[in-house]
Amino acid sequence: MIELRRPVLLDPRQHDREHFDSGEPVFDEWLRRYARQNRRRDTAATWVIVDAKHVVVAYASVAMTRIHRSAAPVTLAKGAPNPVPAILLGRLAVDRRYANLGIGTALAAHVLATAAELNEKAACRAVVVTALNSRARTWWEHLGFRAFDPHDPEQLDLYLLTSEIQATLRHVR
Ligand SMILES: CC(C)(COP(=O)(O)OP(=O)(O)OC[C@H]1O[C@@H](n2cnc3c(N)ncnc32)[C@H](O)[C@@H]1OP(=O)(O)O)[C@@H](O)C(=O)NCCC(=O)NCCS
Repeated sequence: MIELRRPVLLDPRQHDREHFDSGEPVFDEWLRRYARQNRRRDTAATWVIVDAKHVVVAYASVAMTRIHRSAAPVTLAKGAPNPVPAILLGRLAVDRRYANLGIGTALAAHVLATAAELNEKAACRAVVVTALNSRARTWWEHLGFRAFDPHDPEQLDLYLLTSEIQATLRHVR
């Protein structure tokens, strides 16, 4: 039986990131080398799910961002200022030893709930993410994300309107 904790902010003194293995070395390296630096510089916050021994089994990084209206689909740009305020879900990865247990979905749901909360205090129109590849795009689409250009199957830039977050949360929880 796997005992996992609810998502918390990364605490580099307490959480073990050393052996994290998502199968994507760039993602693993980012957690080990850059997550702490980004927190210190206020450029990204990292949420983690850890096991009973505080070993990280999943992480997601979150930051504020903005989208130029000329790059945004109509649903995102309509009635919004230029640039459009948004939240960037920079990276999300699960250790492959814990794949397909719903952990990635649970962590994404946590970030979306956090985005909805942030929206109350400092409005953001959408959550945006760049999928790693087309398979990952499909994974995000299951959570309601849509491609900036839905007609381009290669498009990896995705968004979910903040107003759609509750529907996604009802669907996954
Ligand atoms: C994509 C990823 C986060 C999924 O995490 P997870 O905890 O295994 O996913 P969940 O258990 O919540 O969801 C499982 C579902 O996603 C599918 N899935 C698993 N890995 C996937 C992947 N790499 N790409 C697309 N779909 C994937 C499974 O087939 C399963 O589908 P089903 O429910 O229809 O059977 C994880 O595979 C990962 O870290 N990949 C490397 C980094 C990455 O691609 N991050 C996302 C893009 S930024």
